[in-house]
Amino acid sequence: MKTLALLHASQLVTLAGPKRPRIGKELSELGIIRDGGLLIRDGKIDIVGPSDEIEKAARGAVRAGLAIVDLGGRVVLPGFVDAHTHLVFAGNRLEDFERRARGESYEQIAKAGGGIWSTVEKTRGASEADLFAQAKKRADWLLRCGTTTVESKSGYGLTLDDEPKILRVIQRLNNETPLEIVPTFLGAHAVPRDTSPDEYVDLVIDEMLPRVAKEKLAEFCDVFCERGYFDIEQSREILSAAKKLGLKLRGHVDQLTNSGGAKLMAELGATTADHLEKTDEPGIAALKTANVQPVLLPGSVYALGSTSYPRAREMIDAGLAVVLATDFNPGSSPTPSMPMILSLACTQMKMSPAEAITAATINAAYSLNRGDKIGSLESGKVANFAVFDCEDYREIAYWFGIPQTHSVYVRGERVR
Ligand code: NIG
Ligand code: FE
Repeated sequence: MKTLALLHASQLVTLAGPKRPRIGKELSELGIIRDGGLLIRDGKIDIVGPSDEIEKAARGAVRAGLAIVDLGGRVVLPGFVDAHTHLVFAGNRLEDFERRARGESYEQIAKAGGGIWSTVEKTRGASEADLFAQAKKRADWLLRCGTTTVESKSGYGLTLDDEPKILRVIQRLNNETPLEIVPTFLGAHAVPRDTSPDEYVDLVIDEMLPRVAKEKLAEFCDVFCERGYFDIEQSREILSAAKKLGLKLRGHVDQLTNSGGAKLMAELGATTADHLEKTDEPGIAALKTANVQPVLLPGSVYALGSTSYPRAREMIDAGLAVVLATDFNPGSSPTPSMPMILSLACTQMKMSPAEAITAATINAAYSLNRGDKIGSLESGKVANFAVFDCEDYREIAYWFGIPQTHSVYVRGERVR
């Protein structure tokens, strides 16, 4: 049996608490242990407590195979759980980036030949091996930022062969890197240039979804419900078909316009409704009634040069189990950094550092149906955690633009 004792964290941020997503005041309760430590056996957390207790327990443990790590007064957090990314794509969108700097909008750039479609063309042209190599580099960026589990969507293939190709790359990343990756099918990310919207919706429902379900390539199905992409009716059709096949639901809704997307996600009993920049009070109330978790993505608001952040405070006050994620993608949110997202959540959406950390760990874990295994440092959970070069957890959100990650552990092994 392999045993690892970690001692002397200035703050061991456990997130211990009820076995469900955190709401209201619970978002502020981090369960911090000062001078804390962890005892890990075979990749799982055995004991969480003050360092002297861990030291005693370690001494009593079988000496063979016992390793001790002094955390040197640093902060320890559960590994971040990034519940919304688009990790697998080819190339970048530097042209869009410059155009935006010249004042063009996301929608104008898409019309002029940039946007999602330009990444689709590059992604279709890339081999599976090339896509894997590009995504592996980005998976490493995520780990470097302290993220240990990530949701990743397809959506840059948009054909019967290219969507599964992306999902297979996700599967391979999950098997061959330390990062745990939860796959989501986003065939309805954009309508391909050479197809009519109705034809494409039929292709997604009649051919892509059955194949994805049969080959077990995804746990969730997502749609981009937005003017110029998929309207409410089309989104409802696609997500209902996915639900029948046993997939759980997420959705890009109310990002650029308030189209009633939050209400649709509530009606369908989705696990999450993501973006919500334009969601109003009735939309928030609908999410609460149906217990849908909002996934807020301030990185895309920031990178698009907008100021239209989602109403995080109202959502917390309404009792929603808020989640924060990067939306890592080449177009609207080119950042893998959860610490950057924490900074934006605090400065732009007026969340406290504690609320932001809860939203980026345990609540995110529940939104991926993994709240019983990851997202907090509690006995029996997987030993995924990140060590930061600071003494107070608030520093992770406060200092921005400087990586503070000291080391990262997955299943009890140091991976960074
Ligand atoms: O979450 N909104 C749609 N999808 C992405 C953007 C993808 C892209 O621009 O490539 C998002 O913002
Ligand atoms: Fe997205």
